[in-house]
Amino acid sequence: MSNNGSQVSSWAVHATGKLSIAKAEQSLISLEKIQARCSQKIENKEVYQYLWDRQIKLGENFRWIDQVWLGEGEVLCQMKIPQTVLDSAKYQLHPALIDSCFQSIVALELSQSDDKNETFVPFSVEKFTFYNHPQNGILWCYTCVSKEQQSEEKLKANIQLFDQQGQLVAQVTGLQARKANPETLLMTLGSDLSNWFYQINWQAKPLPSTNRDQENPTGNWLVFALTGELAEHIGEELQQKGDNCIWVSPGSEYQKLDAQHYQINPTVAEQFPQLLQDNADIKGIVHLWGVNETNESIALKEVQTAQELGCATLLHLVQALVQAEQIDVVPMWLVTIGTQNVLAETDVIQPQQGSLWGLGQVICLEHPELNCFRVDLDSKSPVSEAIPRLVDELLSNNHEDQIAIREGVRYVARLVQKQYKIKSQQLSIESEASYLITGGLGALGLQVAQWLVTQGAQNLVLIGRRAPSEMARETIEKLEQAGSKISVLSGDISEEQDAVRIINQIQDSLPPLKGVIHAAGVLDDGLVQNLSWQQFTKVMASKVAGTWHLHQLTQDLPLDFFVCFSSMASMLGSPGQGNYAAANAFMDALAHYRRGQGLPGLSINWGPWATAGMAARLGDEHLSRWHNLGLQSIGFNEGIQALEELLQLGVTQVGVMPINWSRWFEVQTGTTMPMLKDLAPSKSKPSQEGWFIQHLEAVSLEQRRQLLVKEVCSQVAQVLGIADPEQIDPQVGLFDIGIDSLMLTELRNRLQSSLGCRLSATALFNYANVNDLVDYLARDVLKTISFEELEDASPAELNPTEDLTELSTDELAALLADELYEGA
Ligand SMILES: NC(=O)c1ccc[n+]([C@@H]2O[C@H](COP(=O)([O-])OP(=O)(O)OC[C@H]3O[C@@H](n4cnc5c(N)ncnc54)[C@H](OP(=O)(O)O)[C@@H]3O)[C@@H](O)[C@H]2O)c1
Repeated sequence: MSNNGSQVSSWAVHATGKLSIAKAEQSLISLEKIQARCSQKIENKEVYQYLWDRQIKLGENFRWIDQVWLGEGEVLCQMKIPQTVLDSAKYQLHPALIDSCFQSIVALELSQSDDKNETFVPFSVEKFTFYNHPQNGILWCYTCVSKEQQSEEKLKANIQLFDQQGQLVAQVTGLQARKANPETLLMTLGSDLSNWFYQINWQAKPLPSTNRDQENPTGNWLVFALTGELAEHIGEELQQKGDNCIWVSPGSEYQKLDAQHYQINPTVAEQFPQLLQDNADIKGIVHLWGVNETNESIALKEVQTAQELGCATLLHLVQALVQAEQIDVVPMWLVTIGTQNVLAETDVIQPQQGSLWGLGQVICLEHPELNCFRVDLDSKSPVSEAIPRLVDELLSNNHEDQIAIREGVRYVARLVQKQYKIKSQQLSIESEASYLITGGLGALGLQVAQWLVTQGAQNLVLIGRRAPSEMARETIEKLEQAGSKISVLSGDISEEQDAVRIINQIQDSLPPLKGVIHAAGVLDDGLVQNLSWQQFTKVMASKVAGTWHLHQLTQDLPLDFFVCFSSMASMLGSPGQGNYAAANAFMDALAHYRRGQGLPGLSINWGPWATAGMAARLGDEHLSRWHNLGLQSIGFNEGIQALEELLQLGVTQVGVMPINWSRWFEVQTGTTMPMLKDLAPSKSKPSQEGWFIQHLEAVSLEQRRQLLVKEVCSQVAQVLGIADPEQIDPQVGLFDIGIDSLMLTELRNRLQSSLGCRLSATALFNYANVNDLVDYLARDVLKTISFEELEDASPAELNPTEDLTELSTDELAALLADELYEGA
């Protein structure tokens, strides 16, 4: 049976049978007699070519048939372990050997059918008997068709697998095979990935009218703006509405230039708290440093400067806001122009700011209390037209966090599931072409390399900075044995000279480059409040500069595909991965930008892959967190199948994410993502902010504390993925029961949501077990609710080991960093 992961109820039964112990048959098979009848020798290649032509593309591991002799309605195959199969001793009977026995029926078809559109495939077996684990050496597979039960559409056969001495290893009685065409095979042979694909759709949604006088008292906006038309217009427009702008420009030192104008260095974190202290009374922040109004052609320098002006500024601003707990939280608006594909690919003219959207997505998850909104303005209309709409957004009581304005219309982002109709047309992978895989020595890179070879690629170039690992060397050896030329070129794709050298080397010594798979990447996770800009640049290097180099250096080549291995982190956000989400979001935007220029481009927002690779290396706590959220891992076969399907579809950005949404919405109550509204199961209602307060008020004073303990335990259990909240001992430290800093952030968001309150980023560190935390909540947070006699204890008394409020910013950051991803 199988389950495609999206629905608990979608288990499909594929086969049923009864197991019993059989008596071994003693009689030996006479090889000589069979050989005497089956005298027509054919090449095994013919069998595999026949299958290949009918879209059954078997890799080396599945090709056990070594020699074939045909008779009248019978076939004898000599079976040999393929060199690429190294684990056959681990199995009683290797699964690919069983598959290869079934392949023997194809030999009988060779002379009968030229129809490339269909072939016989196994449909059912009456009985399968296993006798003995085969000893090393040659095995024989003898297949005999029942003439009476053979028709155009069906055939029935018996198969015997035996060793050189004629001793039976296994026997299949009553194998029924049926004709099938490639379309049917694609539907039945591949996994059903129809619920795994997602896209962002932009839906027109007018801004709801608001009563400005009541909801928007006038005040000061802190506006990060470069000089230009946009800043000028926005200032005028806000002034007309009675608001005032305090301008911030980029520069090397922090300076107050005049009463309304500051200068700050985007990459120096220490300058930002000062800016907030000097401007404690603000009603909102507008980040316009992401906008380049010049519309000049983009060069690497602009791409890199854009990361500093965009992401570094936002990172340091958020860190300063989190530290400055006394500052009332104000909405933060990130504005870009031409970064999102809303109406057409040609909308995207400034891909360099895509990263800001990725970081914004993670901030929404880690700090929902900061109210971070993103707006992408129309690159095709004059700025002056967009400003009144933007200002309306700023002054609205808005609930959407991803907005785009196009031709005067407001759009909001929605994640939608896409069910594509996969065509059976063969991918154009050419033997006389080269294919480049950056990160080609990594887990996914090697999988893609193997797949490309099975598709007929003969020249692969694999890029990495370090020498191949043992595993990589073995894979490369296998691919070379299969007849492909594998060039391992050492280099850092984020370094221009390395990228130029690699592309030149391909052009000088290999067949024309026809495809790029950009799978180079690194992780350096941390919560936004702790990440350094250095951690950002480290993660962004391969995906921002690296992708840009690849784009620049190949844009004049006739590529068939240019695929970026992006992550669901940029599409959905991923707490603890702000830098990684930003880096991947740049690639997403670049894929659209390339399409807009008529170049191939595909960015795949992968969910976590199972078994090996970045996600698998993160450790069990991450995997169980994902599983708890209803997110499954992607198996290698399924991932490769998805890649193949997406390449055939010619789409630009697709999320490949096996998610069980019922589970997701059941668990994910701390944050509401407007983008996911259309995926929420119809019966799941988003819980109201502060819903738990009503429960507290409904019980007596004496019962309230106990009820609050229960609620906190239940939230802790949810975060830990524990079904029974009673397992949580309120006396035991949160870190001791397995909560890490990432989970702490989730717990904080959950409590903020259920209690309808604001909790500082450090609160949960201060009150390190449920009892202490409940006392703090009851005494200092839920001030409007009475509780029966609460002891008046300070944080230090409650948690004598450390009072975090006494720590300096640096000490606090170091402590948080220590706690985060211990050992990672
Ligand atoms: N595995 C997953 O679950 C998953 C999920 C979503 C997205 N992805 C994306 O898929 C890609 C491949 O992931 P993976 O799991 O295969 O990771 P991996 O095993 O860590 O492989 C990544 C490879 O990239 C190489 N690399 C890193 N920076 C480079 C640079 N600047 N220049 C050249 N090579 C560089 C690394 O080798 P060196 O360090 O030797 O250079 C490494 O071999 C990544 O981009 C990742 O973001 C993976």
